[in-house]
Amino acid sequence: MDSFSSRVVLVLLLSFFCSSICASANFYRDFEITWGNGLAKVLNNGELLTLSLDTNSGSGFQSKNEYLFGKIHMQLKLVPGNSAGTVTAYYLSSKGPTRDEIDLEFLGNLSGDPYILHTNIYTQGKGNREQQIYLWFDPTADFHTYTILWNPQRIILYVDGTPIREFSNMESINNVSFPNKQAMRIHSSLWNADEWATRGGLIKTDWTQAPFTASYMNFNAVNACVWSYSSAPSSFHCEKAWLGEDLDSSSIERLKWVQRNYMVYNYCTDTKRFPKALPPECSFTKTS
Ligand SMILES: *[C@@H]1O[C@H](CO)[C@@H](O)[C@H](O)[C@H]1NC(C)=O
Ligand SMILES: *[C@@H]1O[C@H](CO)[C@@H](O)[C@H](O)[C@H]1NC(C)=O
Repeated sequence: MDSFSSRVVLVLLLSFFCSSICASANFYRDFEITWGNGLAKVLNNGELLTLSLDTNSGSGFQSKNEYLFGKIHMQLKLVPGNSAGTVTAYYLSSKGPTRDEIDLEFLGNLSGDPYILHTNIYTQGKGNREQQIYLWFDPTADFHTYTILWNPQRIILYVDGTPIREFSNMESINNVSFPNKQAMRIHSSLWNADEWATRGGLIKTDWTQAPFTASYMNFNAVNACVWSYSSAPSSFHCEKAWLGEDLDSSSIERLKWVQRNYMVYNYCTDTKRFPKALPPECSFTKTS
């Protein structure tokens, strides 16, 4: 099959499997608490979810659905005050040793010092694609929207609508695998990682500040493709404009603005770590 007809088949398959629940988000309906001895709570009739960490445990939740492509929004308000040593992870992941994963990890800090947003992308079990940025606002003062766009051509991570990272599907050009075969679940957790998280582990968690709490609301994946292993797909018809979404020239400028002003680490420029050659996907970015 040539690549055009395989794309047509893929889109047809997608419209077949894409089912959408055209209703507002509800944490009771869409998620389940996976761990934390009562430290994870769903509040306000399902509109709000909080994760906490204390000396006994962290906590976490996951989506009931698995998705194969989607544009997924979540609003997060991170642990305020002295959050050093804590990590709030929000990610999509499939299962098994060859899993795909799209990671956002918020590394806490001392009061007044900036959080780091650490991102990574695993394909077929292989990661090592770390990038880190500071945010241009205090992520603990208010809720902000973190969006994962994942379509067959690319992954774009957005913060309040500003793109902070893109990973393109270049499988046919450079043979770097792209997550397009395994359905993923949404996961989040808050845990203690003070052996590495803040200033490389120099700053330890101050347990006198516990419990530490992060909050979630306005989850929105109404147009995402819910993966179904068996049953007939639902026939709801929602718009799937994101299936072909790409960065336009003004979004590319905003991505460059983030990289110029807020980037802390980029594996694609780490020639010490990759002395022979940078990973192949690094030569295919719209911002270079
Ligand atoms: C592409 O990658 C796969 C999996 O890593 C490998 O088995 C295959 O040999 C590669 N093909 C080429 C043309 O490099
Ligand atoms: C915490 O603040 C320090 C000092 O500003 C900074 O160097 C560091 O990158 C920040 N973030 C983390 C996670 O350590």
